[in-house]
Amino acid sequence: MADARPFHWEYQAPPVQREAFRVEGGRALRGVVPVSGSKNAALKMLAAATLTGERCRLTNVPQIADVAVLVDVLRDMGIVVDHPAPNTYEVASGDVDWLFVPLEAAAKMRASFILLGPLLARFGRVIISNPGGDRIGRRPVNLHVDAMRALGAEIEYRNGYYFARSPGRLRGADVVFPTVTVMGTENALLAATLADGHTTIRPAAQEPEVDDLIAFLVSMGAEVARTAPDVIEVEGRRRLRGADHHVMADRIEAGTFVIAAAVTGGEVTLTGAPREHLGAFLDVVTDVGVEVTEEGDHLTVRPDPRGFRAVDITTAPYPGLATDLQSPTAVLLTQAQGTSHIHETIFEDRLEWMEELRRMGASVDIPDTHHAYLHGPARLHGAEVEMSDLRAGASLMLAALAAEGTSLIHGAHQVRRGYENIETKFLDLGASIEVVSEGSPVPS
Ligand code: UD1
Repeated sequence: MADARPFHWEYQAPPVQREAFRVEGGRALRGVVPVSGSKNAALKMLAAATLTGERCRLTNVPQIADVAVLVDVLRDMGIVVDHPAPNTYEVASGDVDWLFVPLEAAAKMRASFILLGPLLARFGRVIISNPGGDRIGRRPVNLHVDAMRALGAEIEYRNGYYFARSPGRLRGADVVFPTVTVMGTENALLAATLADGHTTIRPAAQEPEVDDLIAFLVSMGAEVARTAPDVIEVEGRRRLRGADHHVMADRIEAGTFVIAAAVTGGEVTLTGAPREHLGAFLDVVTDVGVEVTEEGDHLTVRPDPRGFRAVDITTAPYPGLATDLQSPTAVLLTQAQGTSHIHETIFEDRLEWMEELRRMGASVDIPDTHHAYLHGPARLHGAEVEMSDLRAGASLMLAALAAEGTSLIHGAHQVRRGYENIETKFLDLGASIEVVSEGSPVPS
């Protein structure tokens, strides 16, 4: 591999319109909130739709910035993406002009790398930016690249771009990951659907979004099955057909609203909640003292009047506690009696946002990149803080809703990447949130 210095380490992301949220805290949230479609499922399905020239129709797609970024990338390549109704997208990728995923897309959204597998499998080549420079962390893609090579792709790395080719069809293979990777599993799976022969992926990620992707692929005519909890097998087909699919509900958004109800001392009913995918998270919040009652796909959340208790939590691949719900859960733990320990096992940069939480009055010790101790209950107060990424952003909103006084939270675009209408949903529950424009666009 020609390992040229990736020039985008110094790359400045394109400007974004800066907005902040002004939140007046201390109001109990009450009411009903619908859960949107899953970001992490919808993005992969938009990519999967490029595996066929026939039209695919996806409903319940969340209208979030990350979806808009991926749609732009597809359209720039000459793929037709229609948006005939709210939350509905139709993709027809008959003729493709440019098999190129630019740096701008990767800088805005790491998940653009999910296009590697399907474009390579369908068109035999793609030039795709390395998203490793994304500011949310040291996020390598080596496992995706290794998986494509195992399937017979030739990949070179030059100037921040992967140049990937497959001389003929990709070849089915045993894809063995040294560690569990969600998008790595999905990239291998997408590529294998059009490969020649049989592919086995292990350990395959067990996240429910992977299974929703499998369901969509099967309706496209792919031969894919999860043959053991951590094994996915694929029999490659020459071509796939168009299909319709309704994207599953977003378990991370649902978890975020569970915490919102609890930390504001309110009572919120989530509709369309994916209860079956929230097991480990609901076990934790119930241990802390949040009451959750279920009726069909409605979850009603209220705090235990006796207060919250400290707990120790550890993030893990599914079915463990999702790392994406670690930071919202941390906001709950600031309100718990005693010292809680957070062990973040998946990423190295997912505790950094707690410096901002500290500015709001939380008592936090962060001895290293994987461990934090929260001493509670803390009286959170309003502060001026900055969202550093999507999940941290939502969590700062939760802290501001629970705090006394007014907070100014900069970087609204971070949370808009993955939460559909977040401020409207909070407003409908009785929150006091104002969107403040921060003048002309500045680099993100
Ligand atoms: C996905 C989710 C993200 C979630 C994460 C973990 C999407 C768009 N994003 O991210 O919301 O937080 O799963 O549940 O679905 N790794 C490597 N090399 C690689 C790939 C990953 O070393 O090539 C490492 C990562 O740095 C991390 C671990 O593997 O430590 C797991 O990451 P992975 O499961 O791949 O996360 P994503 O799929 O990127």
